[in-house]
Amino acid sequence: MIQIQIINGPNLNLLGIREPDIYGDESFEEYFRKLQKQFPGVVLHYFQSNHEGDIIDKLHEIGFSYHGIVMNPAAYSHYSYAISDAVKAIPTPVVEVHISDVMGREDFRKNLVTAQNCVKIISGKGLDAYRMAVEELINRKN
Ligand code: DQA
Repeated sequence: MIQIQIINGPNLNLLGIREPDIYGDESFEEYFRKLQKQFPGVVLHYFQSNHEGDIIDKLHEIGFSYHGIVMNPAAYSHYSYAISDAVKAIPTPVVEVHISDVMGREDFRKNLVTAQNCVKIISGKGLDAYRMAVEELINRKN
């Protein structure tokens, strides 16, 4: 079975409540249940943390055995060289997703540090970005 890990960074535990005009009104848990049903042949795992080191530990834990990783590092995307290095250190491909269109918002969000070591970036497609990223990883030959 194909194993794919979803990693969400800080404040994404508040999806559905947090700034719904930007991030929508659906919780990630709700969306995740629907996503699992769309990919019956894939084992999808979900992990969320508000802590940089925990995200790095998760990348190390599964980054040598899983088929792919879908990661939304949230604000860490814009300045975490530690997460970026962790992505570079593992052989498992990582697709970076952003729910909002980061290029159309404040200037600091245009600086994408972790994405530099990801195989693809999907931004501005809402929660559907996670489905697109899973499809991308399934279709990759690795
Ligand atoms: C985000 C965009 C980031 O700039 C922001 O800090 C987030 C969420 C997104 O999914 O659109 O927390 O990664």
